[in-house]
Amino acid sequence: MSRRLSVRPCSSFRGTIRPPSDKSLTHRAYMFAALARQGISIVKHPLTGEDCESTLGCLEALGASIQRISETEVRIGAVNDWVGHPVTLDCGNSGTTMRLLCGILAGRDGVEATLVGDASLAKRPMGRVAEPLRRMGAEIEGETAPIRIRGSRLEAIDYQSPVASAQVKSAILLAGLRASGQTTVTEPFPSRDHTERMLTALGVQIDCVGNSASVQGGQEWDAFEFDVPGDISSAAFWMVAALAHEGSEVVFEGLGVNPSRTGILDLLGAMFGNESPIDITGETEELGEPVCRLKIQSPGRLPAFTIQGDLVPRLIDEIPVLAVLATQCDGTTVIRDAQELRVKETDRIAVVTQYLSAMGADIEAMPDGMVVRGPTQLQGAEVDSAGDHRIGMAFAIAGSLAHGETVIENAHAIDTSYPGFARHFEQLSGIVLEGQG
Ligand code: S3P
Repeated sequence: MSRRLSVRPCSSFRGTIRPPSDKSLTHRAYMFAALARQGISIVKHPLTGEDCESTLGCLEALGASIQRISETEVRIGAVNDWVGHPVTLDCGNSGTTMRLLCGILAGRDGVEATLVGDASLAKRPMGRVAEPLRRMGAEIEGETAPIRIRGSRLEAIDYQSPVASAQVKSAILLAGLRASGQTTVTEPFPSRDHTERMLTALGVQIDCVGNSASVQGGQEWDAFEFDVPGDISSAAFWMVAALAHEGSEVVFEGLGVNPSRTGILDLLGAMFGNESPIDITGETEELGEPVCRLKIQSPGRLPAFTIQGDLVPRLIDEIPVLAVLATQCDGTTVIRDAQELRVKETDRIAVVTQYLSAMGADIEAMPDGMVVRGPTQLQGAEVDSAGDHRIGMAFAIAGSLAHGETVIENAHAIDTSYPGFARHFEQLSGIVLEGQG
C-alpha cells in the first residue's frame, strides 16, 4: 500500500470476495501451534498482515520452527526448547501479540524476554495484563512497553476484569494453563471468545458460565490443522460501502461469524427488522468457529442507530466505519460505552471526530463515544490514518461517499490487517485507489 492514497467518489459496490483471514484467529492459531505439546501444526489461509507477521517473528525468536509452505499455508512446530538466552520480542503495532505473549511467557520458567512495539503500541496500556499476572506470581516490569518478563511459577487466581477485553481474558487464561489450580476470569460484558472456542476444540477443558471462563492448570494439546475463516471486521468496510451506495450487492465467502464478533449483524437486524439487507447461507464450522457465505445488499433507507452496552465489545473494531455509515443515516446516531476506543491503535473517538468533521459531518465526540446527526453529503478532504489501519480504511469508504477527492496520508498502515484492501476496493467499485509513494 502506498503512503498516500487518493479516493474518488464511487457509485456502487458489487461482487464476490473472500475477505482477508481473521486477525484474532491467525494470532491464536500461530500461538497455540507453538504451545502444543508436540507436532507440527498446519495453518491454512493465515492473515499475511503485519500484525500476524509480528506474532510469527516473536514465536520464531522464542524457539518455534516456522515453515512458509506457500502464500496460503504456514507450518509451525511445537516449541520443545524455549530460548535459553534473554530475547527482545518486537510486537510491531500489535496489541494482541504483546498482551497474549505476556500471558504465555509469564509461566515459562527460564524464559527472559523484553517485549517492544512501535510508537503507537508503546503508548497502549499493558498494566491491564501485567497487574493480574503479577497477582499470579509473574515477574513483569512495566505498565507500557517495553515490558520485561522473567518466566516463573504461577498460582491460579479468580480475576474480576474491569474491562471487557479478549486480550486481557486470553492472557490470563493462557497463564492459567501454566498455573497450579483453577484460574477464572470474569468480565463486565462478554468479549470475543476465540481462545475458549479454539482451545475447547483442541481438547482443553474451559468452563464458560455467564461472563466467566475458567481453566485448570496443566492441560495440554497436540498439533492441529486450521483453515482460518474470513475476518468480519475487515468485511465490515464493504458492508458499510454496500449499505451506503445504492445498487450495491457484495457477497463474502468463508466469512467467520462467531457470535461474539457479529454485533454488526445484530445492529443491522435492529435497524432493518424484517427488511434485512443480509442473507446468510452455507454455514460450516472450523475448530469451533462458525463460518458462512454472507450476501449484503443496499437497503432502500438508512435509519440512525444506537450502539451501547454489551453490543460494544461485539463490534468494537467496526465503530470507526460505523461512524462513517452514521453520517449517511437519517436521524441522530448515538455511540456510547465505547471508551475502549480511546486506547486502540489511536484514540479512535478523537481521530474519527476530527476527520469526519473536516469532511463536513455533524459529529460530536463524547468521553465514551460519539453523536452523529445525518444525513450529510460528505466533502473530500485531506485526512491521516495516523498509523491506524482501521482509520485508513474507514476514510477510504468515507471518500467513496464524498464529493471530490479525499486524500489519506499514511495509508500504508492498512497493511497491518488488510494487505489486499486496494485490490478489493477496485474489484468491488471499479474505481482505482490511486497511490503515491
Ligand atoms: C482482539 C481483541 C480486541 C480487538 C483487537 C483484537 C483479540 O481488543 O479490538 O483488534 O484478538 O483478542 P480488546 O480485547 O483489548 O478489546
